[in-house]
Amino acid sequence: MQVKHGFNIPLMRPIVDQEMLQAAVLSLQNEKLVMGESVYKFEEEFARYCGVRYAVSTASGTAALQIALQSIGIEGNDEVITTPFSFFATSNAVIHAGAQPRFADVENDGFNLDPQNVEARLTPRTRAIIPVHLYGHPARMDEFRDLGDDKGISIIEDACQAHGAEHHGRRVGSLGHVGCFSFYTSKNMTVCGDGGMIVTNDEQVADAARSFRDCGRASRYTMQRIGYTSRLNTVNAAIGRVQLRRLDEWNEARRRMAKMYRTELEGATGVDLPPAERPGETPVYHLFVVRSDHRDQLASHLEKNGVEAAIHYPIPIHLQTPYRTKYGHSEGSFPQAERLAGRVLSLPIHPAITAKEVKTVSRLMRDPTISE
Ligand SMILES: Cc1ncc(COP(=O)(O)O)c(C=O)c1O
Repeated sequence: MQVKHGFNIPLMRPIVDQEMLQAAVLSLQNEKLVMGESVYKFEEEFARYCGVRYAVSTASGTAALQIALQSIGIEGNDEVITTPFSFFATSNAVIHAGAQPRFADVENDGFNLDPQNVEARLTPRTRAIIPVHLYGHPARMDEFRDLGDDKGISIIEDACQAHGAEHHGRRVGSLGHVGCFSFYTSKNMTVCGDGGMIVTNDEQVADAARSFRDCGRASRYTMQRIGYTSRLNTVNAAIGRVQLRRLDEWNEARRRMAKMYRTELEGATGVDLPPAERPGETPVYHLFVVRSDHRDQLASHLEKNGVEAAIHYPIPIHLQTPYRTKYGHSEGSFPQAERLAGRVLSLPIHPAITAKEVKTVSRLMRDPTISE
């Protein structure tokens, strides 16, 4: 068994193979280091993969979200509703864009933003909704789209954990007005460093995003807005192109291992499996997340036995100190999110995990001493 970072079975393991190394070296030798050819090719290929017309790369997923918001004209007192149960970059991006983050609670039978709860919290100032496809599970996009269409509200997908997930035959990122991705090293595909992508069918949004990520340029020496240095480096794009070609096969491997976890953990005492897949939806299991009232005991039992587990996320965003201080949130504001934060546990999953490893983790999870 391979020991990595002190664990026999790590939570995740980024893949860097010879072809990626070669692509990196070739790009460093032959291309402009910033905005080289690989960047444009990666954008074209990623747009095609998602089934949209435009893709604009950025320096991170957070930057993708912020720039997407600014590119649709969100600012100042505009309100953007999102989930408090996500990585905190989701709502930080709203603040970076200069707007007001508002939260709605998550579904009581899943991990994602609840459309009904969002509807109840709409105000005349709501300009956008950001559903997050958390852990690779598609959010209820039909309902969000209906809400948006009715009221002229933009739907921005946070697909940072869901590259390649599908919703009724369409890939996430193509389901709202704009979709945003992260290529951080733990994601289903990475650029072997930080990176992000904005995808859309809206030409104006794509043009604005290209300008925002490149210092606000209109052309080399002219500026049309106050932008950022938020480009994806050429070497990272070159690696991303190779990773993208592997993505479907890796997602299939994740789905197979998720299925095996479901079989192995079926009926395990005090362990709730991830929600069943809804018809027409293909999640990509960025994480395999169970829920348990004995979560902390389970986590330390796994870790004592060489299995890395993690909690995504132990503190909902609204209860993080800056959000409590700035927006006056406190316990009880979003009960479903708070309950999940106390119960979720991420088990190891990645394309290279073996059936034997999944069985070992599952056997440890079934240990009867845990729930006593
Ligand atoms: C749901 C979600 N949103 C946003 C981000 C931000 O992406 P990045 O870390 O690339 O800035 C991440 C990833 O880390 C994420 O998981």
